[in-house]
Amino acid sequence: MFRSVARSAVGKHLLRRGYGTVSLPDRKVAILGAAGGIGQPLALLMKLNPLVSQLALYDIANTPGVAADVSHINSRSEVTGYVGEDQLGQALEGCDVVIIPAGVPRKPGMTRDDLFNINAGIVKGLCSAIAKYCPHALVNMISNPVNSTVPIAAEVFKKAGTYDERKLFGVTTLDVVRAKAFYAGKSKANVADVNVPVVGGHAGITILPLFSQATPKANLPEDVIKALTKRTQDGGTEVVEAKAGKGSATLSMAYAGAVFADSILKGLHGVPDMVECAFVQSTVTELPFFASKVRLGKSGVEEVLGLGPLSEYEKEGLESLKPELKASIEKGIKFANQS
Ligand code: NAD
Ligand code: LMR
Repeated sequence: MFRSVARSAVGKHLLRRGYGTVSLPDRKVAILGAAGGIGQPLALLMKLNPLVSQLALYDIANTPGVAADVSHINSRSEVTGYVGEDQLGQALEGCDVVIIPAGVPRKPGMTRDDLFNINAGIVKGLCSAIAKYCPHALVNMISNPVNSTVPIAAEVFKKAGTYDERKLFGVTTLDVVRAKAFYAGKSKANVADVNVPVVGGHAGITILPLFSQATPKANLPEDVIKALTKRTQDGGTEVVEAKAGKGSATLSMAYAGAVFADSILKGLHGVPDMVECAFVQSTVTELPFFASKVRLGKSGVEEVLGLGPLSEYEKEGLESLKPELKASIEKGIKFANQS
């Protein structure tokens, strides 16, 4: 159903962004875990997105206040808060896109895999509800460990008979955001012009930034490339340590989650050449899930793009990450099929 948007601030904003039209389809987006450290700023950023007509904010606690607060912003979407499992179905019904930042974050000294015991069950429950209430929605998984939670989601959807590999994404945009910021710092390029693909997964050495493909080209020496790679891989830990027990990245993640969701929505809207890195079902390597560039379209993933030429250092990184990524994927699949 299409709704005609008046030539308001929203309409002008879209024209500036090159849509050339003010006729926008209705799109419902839900955030599960909306009252959390990521959920709240992500709710704010999604409220600012003119492609969203309905924003459903779900959490097990505190969503009425977040929803009331965000709803006062004078942008297009209507905002509703849902709290507790009884209201999860209502939050999900009719959703086009579901974003999941529900679950516990790391504390110093923990790996993302240490979150598995709690977050795997949370994700499994939420995905069962998605299969029931909005089986055709595109699902953006933020909850860690992404290398396992995405395979869990896939298994839940397969069991429910709703799995569509084009519609499930592990959000790895924060790795790209970090790689771009760190590369711009070293290359002195204008950060707004920088592009760096990041492939593999979303944990430690499974995060593989491809600085050999970074643009604008900067011919940085090998030791600088190695340091940039390590900093990108350890970016999450850098924030966890700086927050000293008060959680992990929330603001940069909300930004990254909003950038990715915006591209997903633009793909649904038919905007051509929407390409983002994401952790998806893949045949790029022998692993069943892998992060690489994907072209987004009206049904989600239109094309999983290949890796392109790799440097020797990146080729080594690719081989080194495979055993860990394989184990994390298998752990998720096993968990989902246990009970
Ligand atoms: P947080 O603790 O601040 O917020 C999590 C929210 O999830 C809380 O409000 C909590 O009530 C809610 N929640 C718990 N169980 C739920 C359920 N069953 N249904 C709905 N909501 C539920 O944590 P955070 O900092 O927002 O991080 C959330 C997750 O995102 C963590 O797992 C973290 O590791 C992950 N994360 C991923 C990335 C990434 O790049 N993919 C980046 C940063 C953080
Ligand atoms: C990140 O990369 O910041 C997130 O995955 C959170 C974490 O635990 O590092």
